[in-house]
Amino acid sequence: MPGEKRILVAEDDVATGQAWSELIASWGFKVSIAEDGKRALELAESYDPHILLLDLRLPQLNGLEVLSELRRRGAQFPTIMISGEGEIADAVQAIKLGAYDYLRKPVDPPHLKVLLNNLSAHLTVSEENQRLRRRLLRAGELGRLVGQSAPMRRVMTLIEQVAPSTASVVILGDSGTGKELVARTIHELSPRRGGPYIAINCAALPETLMESELFGHERGAFTGADRRREGCFELANGGTLLLDEIGEMKAELQAKLLRVIEEGKLRRLGGSAEISVDVRVLAATNRNLEAAIRDSRFREDLYYRLNVFAIELPPLSEHSEDIPALVEHFMRELEVPAGKTVSGVDAEALEGLKGFRWPGNVRQLRNVIERALIVTKGPLIGAADLPPDLKRAGTGSDVLEIKLGASLDEVERNLIKRTVEFAGGNKSRAAEILGVSLKTLYNRLERYQNRDSHDVA
Ligand SMILES: Nc1ncnc2c1ncn2[C@@H]1O[C@H](COP(=O)(O)OP(=O)(O)OP(=O)(O)O)[C@@H](O)[C@H]1O
Ligand SMILES: [Mg+2]
Repeated sequence: MPGEKRILVAEDDVATGQAWSELIASWGFKVSIAEDGKRALELAESYDPHILLLDLRLPQLNGLEVLSELRRRGAQFPTIMISGEGEIADAVQAIKLGAYDYLRKPVDPPHLKVLLNNLSAHLTVSEENQRLRRRLLRAGELGRLVGQSAPMRRVMTLIEQVAPSTASVVILGDSGTGKELVARTIHELSPRRGGPYIAINCAALPETLMESELFGHERGAFTGADRRREGCFELANGGTLLLDEIGEMKAELQAKLLRVIEEGKLRRLGGSAEISVDVRVLAATNRNLEAAIRDSRFREDLYYRLNVFAIELPPLSEHSEDIPALVEHFMRELEVPAGKTVSGVDAEALEGLKGFRWPGNVRQLRNVIERALIVTKGPLIGAADLPPDLKRAGTGSDVLEIKLGASLDEVERNLIKRTVEFAGGNKSRAAEILGVSLKTLYNRLERYQNRDSHDVA
């Protein structure tokens, strides 16, 4: 039924726009007209068209600019470009930017009618899905992912596109940007949502243990293997497996991993039987895998196998407009300590939060809110409830004082802990700054943690 479909016509010539509008309405569509590029973008939001007819030549913003902005916003409706004489190059460019088709002026009405009817029939099929999707995106939430900024909406759109398939996805982003959350969201929106979701950190374990962690082992496979154990691949059977910090995996293991992914079969360590597994593999990393391939630290074939689809998460400083919504989300999620009523964040504190550069991204923001809930006297979190680093206009504290008489061990421990803080909890960056491997850093931190818990006990 064309009658339910909204067509947006972006055309600056009033008489032409009017003529089209009447013609298209006579075919049973609803029509609205935008007389320039800026208005077209506004109506793309408020009128929420099913199809856009976009003239290439428009005042304010031209057709190509409108199209790239729509694409940047993750708009889903098809766009038909209308080009004048001598604008073929631009029309081709428009198709590259994702336009559905283009028509030459003067537009032939029967041709346009067929095009609109076909598109409209096609749209009806996915209508229900689209409506749901739009509602979710408008609310600025997808699963547990919060954010209405253009970069976050783009991420959400990508998640929705890729979730229904079994394609591997590489999720890229700095520490704390939400890679794990995205992985979980992909799983929850996929047909595998009823199956298991397993995440494994590829940087945390030495190589041999890692192998058994992934593929399992038989009893007696190595010293200490006193019973048979299933690996992550078997545990994730029928579901999704996230390989976190995939960039840290050793080359030999990468080769085995590739084989298992390609064949869908594995052998446990010390075992001879082939076990079939049906697992969707997601991989997350905060490093540039392409650089790792150039340095021969990451296998190119594995990269191409995993990188069927890539989702890149923006650092929080690039979508600080989402900070108020994220703060509200964390206040709802985190429990307010007993005996306190905290209802929000005051204006000064919110300004501070929005202005900070957030090296530790969303995780750091969450930690700051968690801390503020504890220290605040309420009912509003104020600037005084935020950590001192944040109050110092986001420069971060970058000086470590060493008292003479301190042992090397103490200094090392302090330096490591403070560097991790300085890097906003980004362990890869901290390791880089310190000039040690990520594994070494994990080992030290674990050692300190064990020691701390002994100290307390
Ligand atoms: N867009 C978001 N909306 C709501 N919560 C978020 C969002 N992004 C991140 N978070 C929250 O921030 C925290 C850190 O996210 P997550 O663990 O997914 O980051 P990560 O990229 O995997 O970090 P790392 O590289 O350090 O492993 C989590 O508590 C997560 O729920
Ligand atoms: Mg993570």
